[in-house]
Amino acid sequence: MGRRRWLVTGCSSGLGYALATAAARAGHEVAVTARKTADLEDLAAAWPGRVVPIPLELRDAASCEEAVRRAADRLGGIDILVNNAGVGLFGAVEEVSDAELRDQLETLVVGPWRLARLVLPLMRAQGHGHIVNVSSVVGRMAFPGLAAYVAGKHALEGMSQALAVEGAPHGIRVTVVEPGMFATRYGVSMMQAQRRIPAYDVTNREMLDGARGLADNPETGRPEDFAARVLGVVEAEGPTPLRVPVGEDAYGYLEVADEAWHEEFAAARILTQEPAPPPA
Ligand SMILES: NC(=O)c1ccc[n+]([C@@H]2O[C@H](COP(=O)([O-])OP(=O)(O)OC[C@H]3O[C@@H](n4cnc5c(N)ncnc54)[C@H](OP(=O)(O)O)[C@@H]3O)[C@@H](O)[C@H]2O)c1
Repeated sequence: MGRRRWLVTGCSSGLGYALATAAARAGHEVAVTARKTADLEDLAAAWPGRVVPIPLELRDAASCEEAVRRAADRLGGIDILVNNAGVGLFGAVEEVSDAELRDQLETLVVGPWRLARLVLPLMRAQGHGHIVNVSSVVGRMAFPGLAAYVAGKHALEGMSQALAVEGAPHGIRVTVVEPGMFATRYGVSMMQAQRRIPAYDVTNREMLDGARGLADNPETGRPEDFAARVLGVVEAEGPTPLRVPVGEDAYGYLEVADEAWHEEFAAARILTQEPAPPPA
């Protein structure tokens, strides 16, 4: 693959930083975003002329419009959009308020959707493009204590699946990346629902401790390995799967989830195909 023009969100740290670095190293041009461009200075300095820092707040429609406009102007177009930026919210269903839920979905669903809506006309006009949405294994399964985050990633995957069909006739490819656990700031950046209900303490604490310790956990993956895999998918010739788990643990989680889904499906079929009870 020759030089391509990328827009990657959430590059001040973690997976976005590693992916932008890998893309720049491979010779691509990359517009990188964070809420404060000061947090992108190191990345831009490491790849002068190849990495363009752009401010972006996903929850702000005007900021999304301005970011896409600036990226397209500076790079002369956009070939690849990577919706990577994100943050999680701890909290059981009963603890999460309407405002907290809206905020979480604004970051995980509405923002990426907006960016897709903004780049799609450019991609359709040029007859090619690739939208990569960074989900999680929880885009296809659930952990308790993370309900709003789980809901957001499921929604992102559903949107991606529809977009894949809509985009294909226009030469637009869609990939959903599902990372397992990687050592980033994700765990420490996570927010917590304000309301705490003691009945959910055990579930919440387990999730909270796991996430907060993510960066120091020796079993978590390295962002550089994630980046190499995603670069490989983008640069692949020919069709690639819609959903791409990244990391051995991601395959482990999803295999278990897949078996559980099949068992549930079979049980539901038996239940609904038994003769219906007579009307009361
Ligand atoms: N690490 C993991 O184990 C893991 C597992 C599964 C999925 N993921 C997903 O991977 C993606 C990257 O996360 P990460 O692990 O690299 O975490 P990270 O180190 O915390 O990076 C998150 C990035 O998102 C940006 N961001 C957060 N909220 C934003 C907003 N409202 N508007 C614009 N930018 C925003 C942050 O930029 P600022 O400088 O503006 O804060 C930062 O650059 C996320 O979508 C996350 O859900 C991570």
